[in-house]
Amino acid sequence: MKLAVVGGGSTYTPELIDGFARLRDTLPISELVLIDPAADRLQLVGGLARRIFAKQGHDGRITTTSDLDAGVAGADAVLLQLRVGGQAARQRDETWPLECGCVGQETTGAGGLAKALRTVPVVLDIAERVRRTNPDAWIIDFTNPVGIVTRALLQAGHKAVGLCNVAIHLQRKFAALLGAEPAQVHLDHVGLNHLTWELGVRLGGPGGQDLLPGLLAEHGEKIADDLRLPRPVLDRLGVIPSYYLRYYYAHDEVVAEMRTKSSRAAEVAAMERELLEMYGDPALDEKPALLAKRGGAFYSEAAVDLAAALLGGRGGADGAIQVVNTFNNGTLPFLADDAVIEVQARVGATGATPLPVPRLDPLYAGLIAHTTAYEDLALDAALRGGRDRVFKALLAHPLIGQYEAAEGLTDRLIAHNREHLAWV
Ligand code: G6P
Ligand code: MN
Repeated sequence: MKLAVVGGGSTYTPELIDGFARLRDTLPISELVLIDPAADRLQLVGGLARRIFAKQGHDGRITTTSDLDAGVAGADAVLLQLRVGGQAARQRDETWPLECGCVGQETTGAGGLAKALRTVPVVLDIAERVRRTNPDAWIIDFTNPVGIVTRALLQAGHKAVGLCNVAIHLQRKFAALLGAEPAQVHLDHVGLNHLTWELGVRLGGPGGQDLLPGLLAEHGEKIADDLRLPRPVLDRLGVIPSYYLRYYYAHDEVVAEMRTKSSRAAEVAAMERELLEMYGDPALDEKPALLAKRGGAFYSEAAVDLAAALLGGRGGADGAIQVVNTFNNGTLPFLADDAVIEVQARVGATGATPLPVPRLDPLYAGLIAHTTAYEDLALDAALRGGRDRVFKALLAHPLIGQYEAAEGLTDRLIAHNREHLAWV
């Protein structure tokens, strides 16, 4: 089996490699190609990747290239994990929205729109080239904003599934709190990428006993602390929101905090410098502990599970059940079929099919519908460009909504992203 990773020069890649090495029985990779325009990073990351495979006795071949077409040729699956404009662009996304009183975040709010506008055209171009050389390959998209990017891919007819680590991270965390095996814990995970709630935590399978009330009663303090939301809010909801919901439920508090401290992008950039230096050390042959300080915990395990299910190695004829991003197709009846949602789905060689979701409380349905409307307009702006489309997407965003803020944000988004927007 051959896998290609676009954005393979990312400092995250050793996390992926570590998962590929540990889980080689689930996903037997014979060849792995790391593709990246940055040759210097490829050399550092590729070197460490080979040492990790060697140490763990994995005999798969790892190659590196900056030539996308050559790299994806013959690949069974192509993972997209790129960041257009790097941490410098992220730093700007996290900063200028604050000037208009809005959260500065890489995927939520105006910063997320900027990222979508930079990213969608680049990802579509890559996917087109993958399809030309390799029409049967599956595209696994980690590239943020995953909901909008996956929708762009699916609407263009690509064989794509979107993936995020929020669900697997919570599954692992709840399993540890419950003293259960992670594979036994199934989440009733519902919403859009980075806008999800766990409505149930079930043992044994999707229809298993719901342990969420007990989990909240016993570990509510810890869960609330990790989310940085007051425990009574969780108790009143009776469900567990993802930590991205803090940007909504505590928006003004987050803005005030962000104004007083350095951005996450700046922290990550400092970690990346340190990581790259470590990767250059020929004695290093495992993923460094510092990587655990990044947000991507368990993303390699989610990727292995998904690739294995898509490529037919896992879950048998019925496929495996996993949280992914895919077309709604009637799952949430208040959204269009071609909206992209993040829910549990059965994944097999023909792709992902969402499991049914019970009727949602308006408290969640409302925000999902509102944000999907924003995502519609965001994708339109990313595909067709134009100041008015950017303005409309911002006006539609549940965290913005007022014309003055939307005007100010539109001007800033365009000014800070000129080099990445073909229509400016
Ligand atoms: C989580 C999210 C990712 C996001 C990452 C940021 O893993 O699911 O979509 O990119 O956090 O982590 P970072 O360490 O870059 O802040
Ligand atoms: Mn994510």
